[in-house]
Amino acid sequence: MAIVLSDYPAGLEVARELRLEVIGVHEKEFPDGELYVRVLDPEKIKSNNVVVFSTMYPRQEKALLKTLLAIDAARRAGAVSVTTVIPYLAYARQDKVFLPGEPVSGGLVTVLLKSAGADLLLTVDVHSTRVLEPFQNRAVNILISDLLVARALNYLDKPIVVAPDKGALERACYAARAHGLTCDFLVKQRDRITGEISYAPREISVRGSDVVLVDDIISTGGTVAEATRMLLSRGARRVVIAATHGLLVGDAMRRLEESGAYRILLANTLSIKHAHPLVEYVDISSRISTELKRLLGI
Ligand code: R5P
Repeated sequence: MAIVLSDYPAGLEVARELRLEVIGVHEKEFPDGELYVRVLDPEKIKSNNVVVFSTMYPRQEKALLKTLLAIDAARRAGAVSVTTVIPYLAYARQDKVFLPGEPVSGGLVTVLLKSAGADLLLTVDVHSTRVLEPFQNRAVNILISDLLVARALNYLDKPIVVAPDKGALERACYAARAHGLTCDFLVKQRDRITGEISYAPREISVRGSDVVLVDDIISTGGTVAEATRMLLSRGARRVVIAATHGLLVGDAMRRLEESGAYRILLANTLSIKHAHPLVEYVDISSRISTELKRLLGI
């Protein structure tokens, strides 16, 4: 049984691939802004395993609350287990206290999902796996950077896979290994107060080479735009940006255009898509289906 919230319509495709029956759900917002979710055939849920599909961008807080409400509704309707699929898990960048007085927002989000009644959590390229700890070994993070790099190979010749900071190195090297390519990283510095990005000098040999720049999130575009500019100034031939979650807020698209990037590849993990000649989406639904199939043993 599947409950597909309106935030993640691509969940319908996954449910179809897995032949999960989709249970209708009524979502609405009251005049005062409070949210309402109702599962339309609760009797079908009784004694069944249920998968709730949702994602958390845009309107992260509303999407989270709706997911919690749907999990609770499934539990109350008698679900035996609830698996929650949230390809973009928001708040995961705040995975620890960076400055005194801060919360650990990412960890709190997963605590809430678990407390609502989610047994299993499946997400895609989460910024920090640390936030999955409340689920212990009942959370799965799917890496898909290999699929993005596979698409980049349509445009580039034996590219070097570069992470714009050390934190993105694992996803970059994972994709590089999958395609027999080499990987490297840049050293990013971000001012925690202003958010401004700069790159520390570091020897990275990209002269005359194509580069695919792999990151998890593009938010304001500052990170990948600055990295692209730097790689091109060091003689890289073409730079394709490959990022899992393309939030592209505010002026991000203008920044990316001005950086000289050859193409921007994004996964379909959000409920929005950006129409722009530089942007191309890679459908990752079948990767989610495969993992879900394994997890549910179906
Ligand atoms: C941070 O470490 C993340 O991996 C991304 O690099 C970051 O969130 C991107 O943000 P922005 O596009 O605003 O630079």
